[in-house]
Amino acid sequence: MAELELLETRDLTRIERIGAHSHIRGLGLDSTLEPRSVSDGMVGQTTARKAAGVIVQMVKDGKIAGRAVLLAGQPGTGKTAIAMGMSKSLGQETPFAMLAGSQLFSLEMSKTEALMQAFRKAIGVRIKEETEVIEGEVVEIQIDRPAVSGAASKTGKLTLKATEMETVSFSRSRDYDAMGPQTKFVQCPDGELQKRKEVVHCVTLHEIDVINSRTQGFLALFTGDTGETSAEVREQIDTKVAEWREEGKAEIVPGVLFIDEVHMLDIECFSFLNRAFENEMAPILVVATNRGITTIRGTNYKSPHGIPIDFLDCLLIISTQPYTEEEICKILEIRCQEEDVEMSEDGKVLLTKIGVDTSLRYAIHLITSAALACQKRKGKLVEMEDISRVYELFWDVKRSTQYLIEYQSHYMFNEVPTGEQEEHEANAMVS
Ligand SMILES: Nc1ncnc2c1ncn2[C@@H]1O[C@H](COP(=O)(O)OP(=O)(O)OP(=O)(O)O)[C@@H](O)[C@H]1O
Ligand SMILES: [Mg+2]
Repeated sequence: MAELELLETRDLTRIERIGAHSHIRGLGLDSTLEPRSVSDGMVGQTTARKAAGVIVQMVKDGKIAGRAVLLAGQPGTGKTAIAMGMSKSLGQETPFAMLAGSQLFSLEMSKTEALMQAFRKAIGVRIKEETEVIEGEVVEIQIDRPAVSGAASKTGKLTLKATEMETVSFSRSRDYDAMGPQTKFVQCPDGELQKRKEVVHCVTLHEIDVINSRTQGFLALFTGDTGETSAEVREQIDTKVAEWREEGKAEIVPGVLFIDEVHMLDIECFSFLNRAFENEMAPILVVATNRGITTIRGTNYKSPHGIPIDFLDCLLIISTQPYTEEEICKILEIRCQEEDVEMSEDGKVLLTKIGVDTSLRYAIHLITSAALACQKRKGKLVEMEDISRVYELFWDVKRSTQYLIEYQSHYMFNEVPTGEQEEHEANAMVS
């Protein structure tokens, strides 16, 4: 029983770790920013990946602000995946904030406040501080427990040492082998035990806002329920940070703000973005959309990607292209590995064909369910039969649309006039 429970919990944590993009570990570029055809979980889409790499390099160099990039392409062509890859290759120190356009309308704050917070989550401040530290190798710890219960006397002793012979503490490192790969060896410090040292903290402007806003404590950072920060508090913080910069105590680290489904923003959000850009502390803005020429939310005007022309004009556009059969096969293979699913060659061929005929996403979704079907018949390898079974169980968009057209009169609020029926049927057959 105990063993069973253990197994279950382990499986659960494993499942939680697999998200739609968990196989993406970076952009898969070499040191000269040339894309490797398959690397870091990334397949194909080389031009877009290279362009994204150039942007990441610009961010890392840290000098420029207020650029914006649009990832534009059909659904399932890897726009979100590339943004994830960018975030992975930026490194720990550079802030990366992510927001989906639709989220702006569901938060308990105004749209512009939510955007402002997202902007400030993407701007880091590296603060240098000099503090007094006592630093040495621990050579002895003594704990004196009180002899009589209730007695107050509790003394302890910690002995630290510093050395001038740098190699001493390293030579002993091989004596212990019960250490993980994260264990880092450091030199035993030399010189005085007590010294002044420069410490560097990296925080985002948003974190400074929350810590300083009177209504919220810093604990709000953990719950995420940070509420709104008043404009005055922000102004004071900006002034303070500017002072620190002048005194050489702080540096600004512009990060990346990624807004997915940018067509969900309305005209007010776009004009906010237009202005927020001009700030010298602005992060690099990366937005993505799969829309063609469509109405700009909040207006009656149409424009490419549903983005106002003046904003569109500030954007560098990276276009993503549909995948070839070979690339789809490779992506599906990587996803099988990620989900710990072993699939027969025939199975892979069938799944790739499904991916080509329907969509990459639908094929990816079938992996998990086909593996369950395989498990149920106590098989080891996911075979064609498992895939066919789940293909029958779960429909893709094309089949579902076809069904709707055939049985439309049985549904409520049907909006296709009977005359158009044949036309729709024909369309569904073609696409
Ligand atoms: N080049 C790639 N290499 C590896 N995996 C990829 C690649 N492109 C896409 N994928 C994976 O395929 C799936 C669909 O891609 P993704 O969600 O990035 O598409 P998208 O362009 O953002 O689509 P949408 O417009 O619908 O948001 C994801 O699971 C993604 O991780
Ligand atoms: Mg996406």
